[in-house]
Amino acid sequence: MTIHIGAKPGEIAETVLLPGDPYRAKWAAETFLDDPRLVNEVRGMLGYTGSYKGNPVTIHGSGMGMPSLSIYANELIRDYGAKTLIRIGSCGGMQDKVKLRDVILAMTASSISTPSTGIFRELNFAPSADWSLLKAAAGAAEAKGVATHVGGIYSADVFYDERPDLNEQMIRHGILGVEMEAAELYNLALRYGVRALAVLTVSDHLISHEALPSEDREKSFGDMVEIALEAAFA
Ligand code: HPA
Repeated sequence: MTIHIGAKPGEIAETVLLPGDPYRAKWAAETFLDDPRLVNEVRGMLGYTGSYKGNPVTIHGSGMGMPSLSIYANELIRDYGAKTLIRIGSCGGMQDKVKLRDVILAMTASSISTPSTGIFRELNFAPSADWSLLKAAAGAAEAKGVATHVGGIYSADVFYDERPDLNEQMIRHGILGVEMEAAELYNLALRYGVRALAVLTVSDHLISHEALPSEDREKSFGDMVEIALEAAFA
């Protein structure tokens, strides 16, 4: 047990999928894993361990934003020995070519700051995904016929953003989408020598201002979970 995770030693798999929403962790585990078992519910942050095609997997909520994700990712890596961590979540599209329901595989994650800014100080560190996972996820997405984009994303500190000028610069520099967790996941994975990737579904759009109706979200979310699971065990 750690401060924020009640699982016993051995109850967390080496492969962990991290949706922001704990109820999505429950849904994904019950939909895609064999024999899912609840292994954490401290503070309502649900975590389930089961198996996918015979491989042990944990699906655990990260909460919203990098400070929350950092707590869970630190404990999963340092205390439970997680070796492959894949964020599965939604993002806002930032390019015209990126459509609602498309999947984005985040090669890099820019930010204004992360919980690691205090360590990096003057260094503009470039948090990047694990290549083996990125390559495998691109292959899995192609095999499923899901429209997919690979490139840079932006991990924001605020959902209610008051800097339209900054979004303009990111759009201009090819950033595909915005979410709030990946940059710190990549920082931590690189620090501790484990693998990480963010697989994101476009749920809303900063240019067109469209948003996915809630009944569409489940199916799109399912494609993303399967891409993440296939990539983890490729
Ligand atoms: N901003 C930040 N995070 C998000 C967004 C957004 O527009 N959409 C989904 N996650």
